[in-house]
Amino acid sequence: MSDSLRRRLRALPDFPADLPSFDPATAPADPVALFLDWFEHALDAGVPQPHAFSLATATATGLVSSRMLILKNLEPASSGATAGVDFGVWQFASTRTSRKGRELTANPHAALNFYWAALGRQVRVVGEVSVLSAEASAADWEERPGADGQANPQWQLYALHPTEVEFWQASGDRHHIRHRYVL
Ligand SMILES: Cc1cc2nc3c(=O)[nH]c(=O)nc-3n(C[C@H](O)[C@H](O)[C@H](O)COP(=O)(O)O)c2cc1C
Repeated sequence: MSDSLRRRLRALPDFPADLPSFDPATAPADPVALFLDWFEHALDAGVPQPHAFSLATATATGLVSSRMLILKNLEPASSGATAGVDFGVWQFASTRTSRKGRELTANPHAALNFYWAALGRQVRVVGEVSVLSAEASAADWEERPGADGQANPQWQLYALHPTEVEFWQASGDRHHIRHRYVL
């Protein structure tokens, strides 16, 4: 059984045959601009839920967990941008008392991972997370589809401030391309 599963797994294609090209030499100097470019491309290509990403968090002692979330906003980092390179402020929301909420309180280090399968593209973002205001959190809660007007004081809007953003493009010839921005 496990041997046949192993063979079936190995027979699956890792990436589609038809992949977009990516030349890091012509990439924008700014990871936010490149993310927005790739995001538009994913939307145009009909990638389902291109705004979904995995969020990895860890306890204070380094026990890791991850789950999928939805990107709520990506804003320019007006302060903290060095030499005009903008790493952005990546916003997501959840319940403060959830496992991820408790882990972020104990340890603000986190990582995001976007994967757009049809394009063979991955974007990894690493940084520290801060909490946004009660007003911004309430506004996010109220804007959710299906909001019923009830407040949720546990709902928290978070902002990840990256120290690293990595773009990865799969290639049919296995010469996959990696383009990293490090603060
Ligand atoms: C595609 C997708 C998007 C999700 N988006 C969110 C989200 O934006 N906020 C959220 O709290 N949970 C979201 N969830 C549920 C989380 O993955 C997770 O199950 C839940 O937040 C509890 O996680 P925790 O126990 O690790 O804190 C989403 C799940 C999926 C599959």
